[in-house]
Amino acid sequence: MKDKYSILTGITPSGSGEIHVGNYFGAVMPFLELQKKADKVYFFIADLHALTTIQDKEQLQRNVENQVISYLASGLDPEKVVFYRQSDVGLHPELQCILNNVTPLGLIKRCHAYKDKLQKGFDEEGVNMGLFNYPILMAADILMYEADYVPVGDDQRQHIEVARDIAGYFNNTFGQTFKLPDIYNVKETARLIGTDGKRKMSKSLNNYISVFESEEKIKKQIMSCFTDPNRIKPTDPGKVEGNPIFIFHDLINEDKKEVEELKQRYLAGKVGDVEVKEKLLKALLQRFTKERKRYQELQNNPEKIVEILKEGAKKAREQAEKKMLEVREKIGITNKYSFFKY
Ligand code: TRP
Repeated sequence: MKDKYSILTGITPSGSGEIHVGNYFGAVMPFLELQKKADKVYFFIADLHALTTIQDKEQLQRNVENQVISYLASGLDPEKVVFYRQSDVGLHPELQCILNNVTPLGLIKRCHAYKDKLQKGFDEEGVNMGLFNYPILMAADILMYEADYVPVGDDQRQHIEVARDIAGYFNNTFGQTFKLPDIYNVKETARLIGTDGKRKMSKSLNNYISVFESEEKIKKQIMSCFTDPNRIKPTDPGKVEGNPIFIFHDLINEDKKEVEELKQRYLAGKVGDVEVKEKLLKALLQRFTKERKRYQELQNNPEKIVEILKEGAKKAREQAEKKMLEVREKIGITNKYSFFKY
């Protein structure tokens, strides 16, 4: 690891963008830690990538909005992080168009984004080119900013390797231009169990506890949480280990003494599920007080969001334009007749 380094990462707004406890502790919090450590951080919403699957105007708008507000409310610091929407920079597809020419077909055919689709029974003819070219746009996203590290989950490792390969092909063809990014090993956080006590917490399985929804909604989510199925009455000794409600307490409740005491009483059959759940709700509201307040403020002040995204896009563009002028020069688009300026 270098002493001083830049990192770059993006998220695709293919999901709703609403953050639940599993997302918060698994993805958002690690990112907030990372933003403190790096010297330069680029973080963007890959809205152009989302088009491979989201082809509904309202849905895309909603997903992006939720994602932007949720990250800002969670504590993404726009002073420290260059935070932007991919589409607001506009140059990523231009670089992709150029990179297409040094990317062998076979390299992309081996990518799992495409292969998975085929495995799911899709006919090759039915795969859209956005999906097929996904890794090349992603390479453009990365190489444009000369990032040292790209923190991504395991599912994206292959794409970073492809970005390195593409950078290598370009450099070999046109001379040293792109820095080869390294994968930043994000420790895979254990998957958080859902309120059904069975599967990973996820929005689509409706087994989640949200961070930013109304108190009533969160209360409902917590109250329906699965606990110890063998415990019928509050006077029955209960199981704490592996019990989702206590997994959530351990994660969210900052009053460790209260958690310990609840566990002891649960084991001894001296507390009902309802009290344990009510205390979890209280702890969650307490834990996320600041974040929830910021969420409301941002939602009520869209002009503030515009300002942040504008500033982010401006900073990103400065770097992108510099890199693109270099690329134009290297490939010979720039010549003695050139007048082009971004
Ligand atoms: N494909 C990534 C995802 O779905 C998002 C992404 C797009 C990205 N471009 C990137 C991540 C560049 C890191 C770097 O999560």
